[in-house]
Amino acid sequence: MSSEAINREVKRRRTFAIISHPDAGKSTMTEALALHAHMISEAGAVHGKGGRRSTVSDWMEMEKARGISVTSTALQFSYTPGTADDSDAPFVINLVDTPGHSDFSEDTYRVLTAVDAAVMLIDAAKGLEPQTLKLFQVCRHRGIPVITVVNKWDRPGQTPLELIDEINERIGLIPTPLYVPVGIAGDYRGLLDRRTGRYIHFERTAGGAKIAPEILMDADEAAQREGDAWTAAREESDLLAELGQDHDQEMFLAGQTSPMIFTSAMLNFGVRQLLDALVEFAPPPHGRTTVDGTDREVTDPFSAVVFKVQAGMDSSHRDRLAYMRIVSGEFERGMVVTHAQTGKPFATKYAQAVFGRDRSTVDKAYPGDVVGLVNAIALAPGDTLFIDPRAQFPPIGSFAPEHFSALRVTTADKYKQFRKAVDQMDAEGVVQVLRNDLRGDASPVMAAVGPMQFEVVTARMKAEFNVDTVVEPLGYAMARRTDESSAPELDRQRGVEVFTRSDGAILALFSDKWRLQYIEREHPDLLLEPLVAAAD
Ligand code: G4P
Repeated sequence: MSSEAINREVKRRRTFAIISHPDAGKSTMTEALALHAHMISEAGAVHGKGGRRSTVSDWMEMEKARGISVTSTALQFSYTPGTADDSDAPFVINLVDTPGHSDFSEDTYRVLTAVDAAVMLIDAAKGLEPQTLKLFQVCRHRGIPVITVVNKWDRPGQTPLELIDEINERIGLIPTPLYVPVGIAGDYRGLLDRRTGRYIHFERTAGGAKIAPEILMDADEAAQREGDAWTAAREESDLLAELGQDHDQEMFLAGQTSPMIFTSAMLNFGVRQLLDALVEFAPPPHGRTTVDGTDREVTDPFSAVVFKVQAGMDSSHRDRLAYMRIVSGEFERGMVVTHAQTGKPFATKYAQAVFGRDRSTVDKAYPGDVVGLVNAIALAPGDTLFIDPRAQFPPIGSFAPEHFSALRVTTADKYKQFRKAVDQMDAEGVVQVLRNDLRGDASPVMAAVGPMQFEVVTARMKAEFNVDTVVEPLGYAMARRTDESSAPELDRQRGVEVFTRSDGAILALFSDKWRLQYIEREHPDLLLEPLVAAAD
């Protein structure tokens, strides 16, 4: 395929994730996006959460019982913006799903290495919530530009200016509303388009099941129809302009400003405007720098990064899937690529697009796309696949764990299976596995960013290896990286234990931050390096 042809594919692609706190409306918004892309003809067909849930992944009994999505998948759809001319339509949008529960896992971080933009979805009444903040920090750290969506505008909530102030003050991001809502939260009538000065009035559909029809009006018609609500929106828009809070593409890409949109995912209001903003402002896929410092451009031969490995999905597809994000070139199903970490060939006969339970075969894919490779036993998160010339991208990096537990097998005679299972979870990056001589191999220590990672381990131990295990929390709360010369002294300290992680890193665990501070003060010569959130 020629460079121009690849460039054409790249230009029309957008790959993003929605970051939000549980209940802000991520599932509802995902469904609303699918509706606008004509992937489904009706939203909430079986109204309520139960119906929506079928759009997200639901593997393992544990997940079903809790009604949450433990894993991440990707949804691809095409979208033709209203303003498009024939030459650049339709766009191909990849929505990479982040885990939806309140617990935090390393998966969440890894997913964010696979996207070029994020939509920060917040509840109009609640504003910024803890998980939104955590995820936002990851985006900031990685330089991922963020579009802000204030959802549930059909319900009572804060004013636009209050929300703008909150975001500005708490995370230092400057929201630049593209539209101002006409009607306060709880009385969502439509949007003032700040660029054209026109009014987009939304019509409700029965149960919010269909795309909301839009009626376009000029300012005079809008004033006549909406009266004070229109005047208030005009004043807000003028005030924002005076404050300089207008969209600026460079500042958006630099992570300083964030285009803001007000939506009701439930009524399908403002959803088309979100898609248009993604197409217009979110950056298309770009190349990456390899470990040896050279740039792999999108038009170079095929390369991809594995950002997630998932096994033990629902019983009808019991296998192992590795998700790769394509960095460069054209992917064709069946082609044989090289696994950079082992140098071995890897056949891509079973390439699939996966969302929830639905799988479809992928024959061709381009930079920005996410493809699931079935039975990808040798692949681990962070691995690179390529077609010559060789490329290897930097590892995704491991993340500062905050939860530490020993894992013990309780099924007699299953020790061999247990060890095998631990190695597999380690290789997949389900948890980080730590060892030291004192504890031996019988009860390895697991380190995680969120405690739910431990539950995933025990559930999979049982489901896939038929091994019963118990998780025994250890009294440690933080980790620091150290080295061989500091390790013996640290090991002598009370409330400290030293381990080696499977990648060779030496970690010291501390019972609490006071213990750590005390040792730092008393032994300034010891190496105690904070673990960074990501190694990009
Ligand atoms: P999540 O994936 O972020 O966890 O949120 P989800 O979409 O499941 O939405 C959480 C709740 O918020 C659901 O209500 C959903 O209907 C509601 N919701 C989402 N978007 C909007 C919106 O724009 N406006 C309003 N008013 N509500 C919204 P629920 O009561 O938990 O379930 P259900 O019975 O409504 O389905």
